[in-house]
Amino acid sequence: MDARKIIAVVGATGAQGGGLVSAILNDPDSGFIARAITRDVNSPKAKELADRGAEVVAADIDDVKTLKEAFQGAYGAYCVTFFWEHFSPEKELSGVRAMAEAAQHAGLQHVIWSTLEDTRRWVPLTDDRMPTLMGNYKVPHFDSKGEADRVFTDLGLPTTFLLTSFYWDNLINFGMEPKKGADGKLAFTLPMGDKKLPGIAAEDIGKCAFGIFKKGSEFIGQTMGIAGEHLRGAQMADALANALGQEVIYNAVTPEVYRGFGFPGAEDLGNMFQFKADFQEVFCGARSVEFSRKLNPVLQTFDQWLSQNKTRIPLEG
Ligand SMILES: NC(=O)c1ccc[n+]([C@@H]2O[C@H](COP(=O)([O-])OP(=O)(O)OC[C@H]3O[C@@H](n4cnc5c(N)ncnc54)[C@H](OP(=O)(O)O)[C@@H]3O)[C@@H](O)[C@H]2O)c1
Repeated sequence: MDARKIIAVVGATGAQGGGLVSAILNDPDSGFIARAITRDVNSPKAKELADRGAEVVAADIDDVKTLKEAFQGAYGAYCVTFFWEHFSPEKELSGVRAMAEAAQHAGLQHVIWSTLEDTRRWVPLTDDRMPTLMGNYKVPHFDSKGEADRVFTDLGLPTTFLLTSFYWDNLINFGMEPKKGADGKLAFTLPMGDKKLPGIAAEDIGKCAFGIFKKGSEFIGQTMGIAGEHLRGAQMADALANALGQEVIYNAVTPEVYRGFGFPGAEDLGNMFQFKADFQEVFCGARSVEFSRKLNPVLQTFDQWLSQNKTRIPLEG
């Protein structure tokens, strides 16, 4: 019988889960094996994971029955939700309830829940520094994750609460790349003034999560934050300029201006950046780069990430 421990990975074809599956596959002597969860085992990404040696199973976090089957026999699970697919905090919460119920049903020994702060702990709904959104939230995609922490706690599940950071990959696939201004110069826009933004290469989240699984029960019951670097907008613009070989200006708009950009989620993200700026010490303090590097010795800096990824940043003109 195979004595290796199975880690069931939700979102295995995506950024966080994909990084974790790769980390497990790249370390065949670790004593762990990857069970990649996808809604479509026949998709090209799912097939690629199977070709690389992962067990690939079908499940949907909106369907607890499929999750129960997918978690069965596993040692642990990596749980993540998909806010930007539906923009619904309630749907995030129901996805978490399903994952937690399935984890309990399977008797998992270690769950990592990819969470974020419930910003209402610092900015109650009565605080008008930023608008209340969707009736009950300040930063919907944060608040619902933080609120969902207690779903795992209430069920008594052996959980590590993993506070993730802004993916630098947002510069490739989330519309946050530098854009040409009226003066023809590239401008990197962030509503954070001179405050620091903890960022990370998305693939490093999975590598850090694997580091946590490898530590056994050490971090169970704890909230651990990770980041590759804490950088000011101006430092990111300078790093982009160096990597791209052209001038990049830091365009420090106000959160209010950012909220008004009009793209889906602009208000949520405007509030998010304002929270990160207003509570920089709390937010950066919860995400130690040193700790992240201990979990994942090949943790990338922004410069290293740029050197690998700069040609993937979509630049106009
Ligand atoms: N962007 C950032 O900077 C950032 C930072 C911190 C946290 N986050 C959070 O990260 C979360 C998203 O994680 P990610 O970036 O790893 O996602 P992602 O790259 O968009 O990948 C999501 C994957 O999950 C699968 N999926 C989608 N809906 C599913 C469902 N209902 N049931 C099962 N699988 C489903 C999809 O795979 P299949 O199609 O194969 O099923 C997809 O490939 C969001 O909640 C976001 O708030 C983002």
